[in-house]
Amino acid sequence: MKSVRKTIQLHTPNIFGNETKYLKECIKSNYLTFGKHSELFLKKIKNVTNSKYPALVHNCTSGLYMCLKIADTKKDDEVIVPSITFIASINVVKYCSANPIFMDVDEYCNIDLKKTKEFILKETFYKNGKTFNKKTKKKISSIIIVHTFGNIVNLEKSFIELCKKRSIIIIEDAAESLGSFYVKNNRKYHAGTIGSLGSISFNGNKIITSAGGGVVLTNNKSLKKKVVYLSNQAKDDDVNFIHNEVGYNFRLSNIHAAIGLAQIENLKKIIFLKKKIHNEYKKRINKISGLSLINPPIYSKSNYWINILKIDNKYKFTKKFLLKKLISKKIQVRSVWFPNHLQKPYNKCQTYKIKMANKIFKNYMCLPSSSSLKLQEIKYIVDNLK
Ligand SMILES: Cc1ncc(COP(=O)(O)O)c(C=O)c1O
Repeated sequence: MKSVRKTIQLHTPNIFGNETKYLKECIKSNYLTFGKHSELFLKKIKNVTNSKYPALVHNCTSGLYMCLKIADTKKDDEVIVPSITFIASINVVKYCSANPIFMDVDEYCNIDLKKTKEFILKETFYKNGKTFNKKTKKKISSIIIVHTFGNIVNLEKSFIELCKKRSIIIIEDAAESLGSFYVKNNRKYHAGTIGSLGSISFNGNKIITSAGGGVVLTNNKSLKKKVVYLSNQAKDDDVNFIHNEVGYNFRLSNIHAAIGLAQIENLKKIIFLKKKIHNEYKKRINKISGLSLINPPIYSKSNYWINILKIDNKYKFTKKFLLKKLISKKIQVRSVWFPNHLQKPYNKCQTYKIKMANKIFKNYMCLPSSSSLKLQEIKYIVDNLK
């Protein structure tokens, strides 16, 4: 009988560690919601990221939302965001009843910091300790920097200083970037620890997973305290149930943390496999005229989360054709996200000199990148690209 080819998924979890053991421990001990696995998971996160005060949350989206709240983002305020990112990074702005200002991106799909700097210097003014948009006269509370696909944004000191001088809080969406570092003068800075606050995702499609989950990173003790407070229904007194603020139920359960703990124990191995996959793709794809693989930025150490294929005019097919063709061959490929400044809920928002984002949507797509991807599968994918 002829064997039926299984679909090669874009990104699946790789379970080969202590996941079952730790889950059993939770169930046997009856510690499902709170427990030691959460503490152990946090400890490991601290070791990997060097973040002084991480706080677990139930996903990266709620983590980002709390970061914006802590950055005092209020109704009608504005937040600078990149156009190319998963829409969660933009939706959180709307959860605060604030508005995004869309920026262009660079060749790594990361926010274009040169244009962002120009926007802040030319299109905003500073008054009473706050930055205001010249066009709308609204306060700009913060900027969300997204380290897209595991590739770090080039967050130079001069940009950080400008934001500090203008009281614009830098929030890092590091959803996809556990294990990715910015490297400067032989020092490594983990994604999510460069600005004031960062948020990482442990969703099922990320480099490691806790089935669903996230962590907010900060080096500021009082900011962590605020995250924990808000994500636990802002409880000021747990005997009499006194709540002096509106809080949320954004905690991560011990059961989820148990899976995350087992996964993070294997992070090094997973990144090793990921790098190998990237190199196998690269050596084959770069031989095909009109196709290339996006390399991680030279100023970084990447986790190689997803491999991005770039299609240029020399290639004989369009991206649209290629997506359809590969999906018909049971290869789960995806386009890079549709630019968010063109999405229906956001197409009336302010944009600034957006060009590259549109080009990226036209020419970039995501290739299957699970750490369990086999060499024969990579060869099959590349044969289909040929
Ligand atoms: C860039 C980016 N931001 C935010 C999120 C949201 O993460 P979560 O699913 O943990 O809420 C994701 C992924 O899902 C993402 O890729």
